[in-house]
Amino acid sequence: MSKASAGDSIWSGFYKRPVGERQKVVAGERGLDAADLAVLNKDGPLPLNVADSISENVIGTFGLPFAVAPNFLIDGKEYVVPMVIEEPSVVAAASHLAKLAKETGGFKTDYSGSIMTGQIQLVKLKDAKEAAKKLEAEKESILSEAQEMGGHLKSFGGGVQGVAVRTLASPRGPMIVVEFNVNVVDAMGANMVNTLMEKMAPSLEKRSGGTARLRILTNLAMHRIAASSAVWSAQSLGGEEAVEAILDAWAFAMADPFRRATHHKGIMNGIDAVGIATGNDWRAIEAGAHAYAAIKGASITTYSKTPDGDLEGKIVIPLAVGVVGGSMKANPCAALGQKILGAKSSGELARIMASVGLAQNLAALKALATEGIQAGHMRLHARHIAKMAGASEKEVDGVIEFMISGKQVNEAGAQAALRQLRSK
Ligand code: HMG
Repeated sequence: MSKASAGDSIWSGFYKRPVGERQKVVAGERGLDAADLAVLNKDGPLPLNVADSISENVIGTFGLPFAVAPNFLIDGKEYVVPMVIEEPSVVAAASHLAKLAKETGGFKTDYSGSIMTGQIQLVKLKDAKEAAKKLEAEKESILSEAQEMGGHLKSFGGGVQGVAVRTLASPRGPMIVVEFNVNVVDAMGANMVNTLMEKMAPSLEKRSGGTARLRILTNLAMHRIAASSAVWSAQSLGGEEAVEAILDAWAFAMADPFRRATHHKGIMNGIDAVGIATGNDWRAIEAGAHAYAAIKGASITTYSKTPDGDLEGKIVIPLAVGVVGGSMKANPCAALGQKILGAKSSGELARIMASVGLAQNLAALKALATEGIQAGHMRLHARHIAKMAGASEKEVDGVIEFMISGKQVNEAGAQAALRQLRSK
């Protein structure tokens, strides 16, 4: 148990202390030594003072692998996709299926536009039905008022595009939600939408006679949908039977929510990794994707056989992502991720992320439905062990082969392989 109990004040005002002092407090409380403090103070790409300005109670920065997945041909353009992720094989899997998709023309994508929806909740209504009727009748005037309040959004091509009124039956009685669709163009848009909702709330209170409670965007970005599709030749996937096996694996996800959760986890492995690498809010992306999938009650990817027996895959997913905004500027790694990717608009970024999600999903389905997921993992693990054992680039493949065929994927196996290779 921590030495600081609930009654202690050691944590009170912790946030006001400089980083060095916070480190000392944590070191004292949790027994950190000089080596631990060196980890916290190690220079990384995100300077400590910047990290301290981004979040609260910061004591250091946290490193994750920053990788790139090549081979992505999307709408005729080649991309090198930055991915930040700690899970082995995700980057390899995305690169692999992107490479196979390239053989047949790559990914073709679509994007609905950058429309985010903000919600204002109205409660304490004398008669919710009557209030909703009144708001419905005043929709035009509510819309022009919101457009005027969000007038600054016009300067970069955005603005309020629509308003809707819904009555909800809730455990606390009837309530109204007024929803605004806002074109946020190249931003993720949360701040813009939330600011606008707070500005609009008093007017809606006046019009409805109720009280505005929550004034916030929804992460279920139903009007910010990206789609991507591609065809993979049956031969590249391992033949006719492999295509059948992949279709069975997909059908399992369509039929069963337990399998679907894992299926979607695999998709989000890729999408989140690009989200992190480009400074986007991956929790918002996750929330939107899973809520969307829950409403559909189905997989967000679909697969079918083409008349030639090849496999066509498609993904449809809400993606509220931006290429401009605070976190991208503040975090040099995010700015670098954006630079490597080179997406010029949030639509372009969403199209790329959808394509990565599709590639990721098919890589997992292919592996799961054929050799099993562990074989690929084992090869990657073997590569890691071979390198750790001191194998040169020339020796690595031989060492991997030796370890896998001898079922000895460990340090001893790698050393034995090296002895054998070098004795030849
Ligand atoms: P392979 O057939 O041995 O690959 O597959 P290869 O050696 O023939 O190489 C083909 C290409 O793959 C390479 O092209 C690379 O692009 C890439 P090349 O560079 O030679 O022109 N590639 C790599 N990229 C980076 N590092 C590497 C590497 N190796 C190949 N070391 C592979 C090997 C791992 C790709 C394959 O076994 C695979 O795709 N496995 C599936 C792994 C996977 O899906 N991992 C995701 C995490 S698990 C997951 O998603 C959770 C899950 O529960 C989801 C679900 O249930 O749906 C499974």
